[in-house]
Amino acid sequence: MAEFYDQIGIGYRDYRAPDPRIQALINEALGDARSVLNVGAGAGSYEPIDRPALAVEPSAVMIAQRKPALNPVVRAHAGALPFPDDSFDAALALLTVHHWPDRSAGLEEMRRVARRSVIVFTHDGFHDNFWLMDYFPEILEVDDRIMPTVEEFESMYASVREVRVPVPGDCCDGFLAAYWRRPEAYLDPGVRSAISAFAMIDNVETGLTKLRDDLASGAWLSRHRELMECDRLDLGYKLAIASPD
Ligand SMILES: C[S@@+](CC[C@H](N)C(=O)[O-])C[C@H]1O[C@@H](n2cnc3c(N)ncnc32)[C@H](O)[C@@H]1O
Repeated sequence: MAEFYDQIGIGYRDYRAPDPRIQALINEALGDARSVLNVGAGAGSYEPIDRPALAVEPSAVMIAQRKPALNPVVRAHAGALPFPDDSFDAALALLTVHHWPDRSAGLEEMRRVARRSVIVFTHDGFHDNFWLMDYFPEILEVDDRIMPTVEEFESMYASVREVRVPVPGDCCDGFLAAYWRRPEAYLDPGVRSAISAFAMIDNVETGLTKLRDDLASGAWLSRHRELMECDRLDLGYKLAIASPD
């Protein structure tokens, strides 16, 4: 099957450096797990290098962007992990679950191979909390379709706890909301190419024109001036940390 990220993943690493503040939250969630599986690992952002770890990634384009010294990678999909039960202490899925064609199968597989915890970096959905949706409302519809719900996690695991992941104003991992304080960035085609949501909607041009005009006229700044005073913002990103018992 052709991989979506073989088309949209070119140059991913140029715009998606792991952010140290998010890395710290992920490390804390991993705790003393002695072995880790990183599913949908992409170019390897946030993957531990201080303990045995293995990556699973289906896209050759993404695998090619992994640094040579990083952990070994197996080319596979979340829905069919080629490992025996209880092979790892922890399994990670970072900004990837919303791309899986069968989310439940992938989450079940993570539960099967992880002895102690399953850690998912995901998102609640934007709704009214992010100004970018005023320009690209189609993203909301896509989000509603693909983002996992809390109920989904809770139905699969005995215990699920949530850690909020506020987005720093200078976040260096250029995911969808990373530029909430740097609106001009969304006008850059390179920035947009590293954000899958822009590849999943039909009409980007209308929103871009509106944003460009609002930035030029000062309308954006007068509406969102208070954001310039914030260091970080809760825009719905979170770690869902699940354990089987
Ligand atoms: C936004 S990237 C995130 C990559 C990395 N985890 C990170 O945080 O930078 C999403 C990744 O999920 C991978 N992916 C898509 N479908 C998948 C599936 N069914 N199973 C595992 N990974 C998948 C993509 O190939 C891509 O590398």
